[in-house]
Amino acid sequence: MNKPVLLDLFCGAGGAARGYADAGFEVVGVDIAPQPRYPYEFHQANTFSVLVILLSGGTWQGYRLRDIAAMHGSPLCQRFSKMLNHGIGSREKHPDLIEPTRKLFQASGLPYVIENVEGAPLKFQAGQFVRIALDIDGQRVARAFSFVNPPQDPLLEFYGVIVPEGPLSPRLARLRAGDALYVAPNPAGFLVLSEVPDAETLWLVSTGTGLAPFLSLLRTPEPWKRFKNVVVVHAVRYARELAYRELIAGTGAKYVTFVSRENAPRSLAGRIPAAIADGRLEAAAGVALRPENSHVMLCGNPQMLKDAQAALAARGMRKHRRRVPGHITVESFW
Ligand SMILES: Cc1cc2nc3c(=O)[nH]c(=O)nc-3n(C[C@H](O)[C@H](O)[C@H](O)COP(=O)(O)OP(=O)(O)OC[C@H]3O[C@@H](n4cnc5c(N)ncnc54)[C@H](O)[C@@H]3O)c2cc1C
Ligand SMILES: NC(=O)c1ccc[n+]([C@@H]2O[C@H](COP(=O)([O-])OP(=O)(O)OC[C@H]3O[C@@H](n4cnc5c(N)ncnc54)[C@H](OP(=O)(O)O)[C@@H]3O)[C@@H](O)[C@H]2O)c1
Repeated sequence: MNKPVLLDLFCGAGGAARGYADAGFEVVGVDIAPQPRYPYEFHQANTFSVLVILLSGGTWQGYRLRDIAAMHGSPLCQRFSKMLNHGIGSREKHPDLIEPTRKLFQASGLPYVIENVEGAPLKFQAGQFVRIALDIDGQRVARAFSFVNPPQDPLLEFYGVIVPEGPLSPRLARLRAGDALYVAPNPAGFLVLSEVPDAETLWLVSTGTGLAPFLSLLRTPEPWKRFKNVVVVHAVRYARELAYRELIAGTGAKYVTFVSRENAPRSLAGRIPAAIADGRLEAAAGVALRPENSHVMLCGNPQMLKDAQAALAARGMRKHRRRVPGHITVESFW
């Protein structure tokens, strides 16, 4: 049987190639410079020209796109490298080759790996999460955290609860400036507007830290271009947990809060699903919550997600799927 072919782009002398070959790939290296010591099939060429030929249906060195199983790229990374501080020169002299490479890899539809340097910007969509981790007693403990910052802001911001008996969150809360924190290179998640169909009103409904992904969304232009109304709904146990109030008030969103365990004059009492069912939520927001006009994004406590979906189903709304469009998108935090 033929081995699957892996294109090793910006391959250099073959640093990554050996691992792929050991894993069972037929490795084909491409580099703009001659690589006389590359241990597998090698072609001197510009990576971008090769990808453009393959993506436009052409044949390159006897290969068509359908002959390739996967791609690996190690685009030059001086723009983001810490080595710049050691005499390579200014960042501006070095183009960002990571993004154009990623775009072409994504357009190919093939599985791909991009080798990156620490400090290169993370590419994510507002609403996505990333795994962050600490080494605790010799073990790396990782958990998902939603980005609070919008993608255009390079300073990563997270909004975290402290679960007193949890393995990671109390340790995160004790971090001091300068302590190390691992951030995985692959943000993910479907709580994003590119997965949401058009509607008149977008409802961003959360409990606790489930607000986090919506804070990122609210600070992108998309909701304001696509929806006539944006309603933020945030439920917490105590009024002091209504975080990011000023930020939300500074957007164009309608803002409805729930405080469940004490009296709070400007917030609704009780829980979100009950207020969907009895109409208090629509009344507080001042807009109708119906399948014809609304898309609801839900995030946070898994039981709230279940109960809220049941209340929305009673209004004729169902989960949105790519193949069967609907009105509800959910992300559970545990
Ligand atoms: C897609 C995704 C995105 C997430 N984004 C965030 C985020 O932006 N901010 C955040 O604080 N957490 C977020 N979480 C939860 C986070 O990954 C951890 O579970 C949380 O930080 C607790 O970690 P832990 O190791 O201390 O306890 P864990 O062992 O992870 O959890 C122990 C218990 O704590 C409770 N719990 C977990 N997370 C929360 C929470 N956020 N609020 C209330 N109770 C909770 C649950 O009962 C859970 O069973 C997200 C989870 C997922 C799956
Ligand atoms: N300072 C901190 O770091 C901090 C702050 C808060 C909490 N915590 C810890 O975090 C954990 C809980 O976090 P949390 O308060 O954000 O989460 P939570 O228990 O999900 O509560 C948030 C809101 O969701 C509501 N809710 C719960 N279940 C629901 C359901 N089935 N349907 C609809 N609404 C529902 C709650 O109402 P009810 O009140 O009616 O349950 C509350 O208003 C605990 O371990 C707690 O000790 C830490």
